[in-house]
Amino acid sequence: MLRKSPFNRKKILIGITGGIAAYKIPQLVRILKKEGAEVQVVLSESAKQFVTPQTLSVLSERPALSDFFQSDQGEWNNHVHLGLWADLIIIAPAGANTLAKMAHGICDNLLMSVILSARCPVFVAPAMDLDMWTHPSTQSNIQTLESRGVTMIDPEEGSLASGLEGKGRMAEPEKIAQILGKHLTPAPNYFLGKRVLVTAGGTQEALDPVRYIGNRSSGKMGFAIAEQLLSLGAEVDLVYGAVSVDPPIGSNNHQTLSAQAMNEACQSLFPQCDVLIMAAAVADYHSVDIAKEKIKKSDETLTLTLAKNPDILKSLSDTKKTHQVLVGFALETENEEFHAQQKLQKKNLHCIVLNSLKNPKAGFALDTNEVTLFCNDGNQFHIPAQEKNQVAVSLLNILGDWLTKTHS
Ligand code: CTP
Repeated sequence: MLRKSPFNRKKILIGITGGIAAYKIPQLVRILKKEGAEVQVVLSESAKQFVTPQTLSVLSERPALSDFFQSDQGEWNNHVHLGLWADLIIIAPAGANTLAKMAHGICDNLLMSVILSARCPVFVAPAMDLDMWTHPSTQSNIQTLESRGVTMIDPEEGSLASGLEGKGRMAEPEKIAQILGKHLTPAPNYFLGKRVLVTAGGTQEALDPVRYIGNRSSGKMGFAIAEQLLSLGAEVDLVYGAVSVDPPIGSNNHQTLSAQAMNEACQSLFPQCDVLIMAAAVADYHSVDIAKEKIKKSDETLTLTLAKNPDILKSLSDTKKTHQVLVGFALETENEEFHAQQKLQKKNLHCIVLNSLKNPKAGFALDTNEVTLFCNDGNQFHIPAQEKNQVAVSLLNILGDWLTKTHS
């Protein structure tokens, strides 16, 4: 199958400023054109000392522009139009003067006006002498530009036009093209169109009509996962127990309080799902006799007989089809990694998310969490303490990337 280039039909504006490295830009134009991009070149006046507009026009198959007016045709080169036309702008080479002008919004030629009018990502490949590169004013301009979202393609070490050796050579056109291509490649979204079963919250095991055995799960983590899956384009079946927050809108929501009821709901939904994420805190035992009436206070001690609940995750894993992916959660208070790895193996999961109750920023009722994802190929990924919503975003990005690599 032919590889679809990330540049295919993309509109790339190349801004060339004065500097010896400008002689390499025709090669960049050739690469991008070959990859299927539409290329518009805009040069500064001084760039013309190093590369001819004619060469660039021939290679890009468009007039290379440098003035607001094309004197021969009396046409106005509308900088706003050019800035909005581009899907991506690359300024290469960019000298210290260009970086300073960009950082301060100086708009004294067509190229600078285009950059100020642009709404697309802007990349810059600086090229200058090593002392100009390290000068605090250049570095401070770079910081300013980066803080506004401009991406620097760092210069390389080597011999410079001044005869000195050091950092300052513009990155090679092939490298520039590779970095731009990476940026234009859409991130794979494993979950788009997938049907995902998510469980959340804690189960409640009734003792009598009033009382139950429960746990402190709030449902926040599972709900945050369901919500993020919805925004990634998944169809979400959400089975949840006792919770302290509202479930998301948009998922197919099923509330089930006991482990037995959660098990029944999961067994009926699992065969249709592609991915199961089992974040619920399921009680391991239920009361053998649920009293019909409220249990009356009598003796000094009360003995309850509990029987084991089904291990929902394990039983689903035993019936899984090859395309189905299973992700469990492990909540541990000691020997965390050991227990998490054991559950990963025993329940035959693809991944397990370890919550440690030892971290004061991670836990049931909190809005923050810190987790580690263990995968069955030995990979592990740590997600530092942050809001549960943000943990869900990071977790699904990491899981989606891992699944794309291992299960696509
Ligand atoms: N789980 C389940 N059914 C159960 C118990 C747990 O499906 N009856 C699932 C949980 O939703 C979680 C994973 O199994 O995804 C691990 O749960 P955890 O409570 O950490 O472990 P257990 O298997 O119950 O083992 P233990 O309580 O001994 O740590």
